[in-house]
Amino acid sequence: MKQAGQKISMLTAYDYTMAQLLDESGVEGILVGDSMSMVVQGHANTLPVTMDEMIYHAEMVGRAVSRALVVVDMPFPSFHLGQHRAIENAGRILKETRCQAVKLEGGVDQCDTIAALTSAGIPVMAHCGLQPQNIHQLGGYKVHRDEEQLLADAQAAEAAGAFAIVLECIPSAIAQKITQTIHIPTIGIGAGADCDGQVLVINDVLGLTAGNSPRFVKPFANLRSTISDAVHQFREEVRDGTFPADEHQYR
Ligand code: KIV
Repeated sequence: MKQAGQKISMLTAYDYTMAQLLDESGVEGILVGDSMSMVVQGHANTLPVTMDEMIYHAEMVGRAVSRALVVVDMPFPSFHLGQHRAIENAGRILKETRCQAVKLEGGVDQCDTIAALTSAGIPVMAHCGLQPQNIHQLGGYKVHRDEEQLLADAQAAEAAGAFAIVLECIPSAIAQKITQTIHIPTIGIGAGADCDGQVLVINDVLGLTAGNSPRFVKPFANLRSTISDAVHQFREEVRDGTFPADEHQYR
């Protein structure tokens, strides 16, 4: 698609129903993101989600999808404990979930691990720019502007065998330069319009997220209010006895 100049769409999913909907809607990629830690589990950041929890949700997604490429995030610190452990953990994802690839945060710093995984036959998507698993080191979610480092990360990931790279929270001009320089697709989130594709968290896209969202988020629906209205109406109708009506009852 990169070579043909076609843009790639990717969204996150964490369960069977949503994954089936996304697959039917035609997105090219589905990511079982460690954002699950926040949007499904309610944690403050992506650090708490475990390998077993990622596998549990990836199994649901893998069961639902027949067309899209499904990528599963390697949670912190599943790829930081040596290449043997990284292959063991990524191998579990491929063996137990029917998903086809893993994603890990890092560039130059993770190129040996990316190379070890790819030489074990495990397709790897790298994740450069803002790496949310480093939140405590970074002190906050910030735009990353070090062009030299970002380019070096992307090139190192490509050289190590990554098949694509997520670029998160970087200026559009830097993302454009990286996209033009490397041969594998760049999938942006807060990285501008010139990336080869875009990825967003499904809860943000559907307007399910409460509170403020980062600048790069566009809600394409307002399901939070749709769901809230439906639940209020259900409660009203139960209270006033209009639900269940005749047609909802067995005689
Ligand atoms: O975990 C996630 O959802 C991600 C995307 C935001 C790229 O890594």
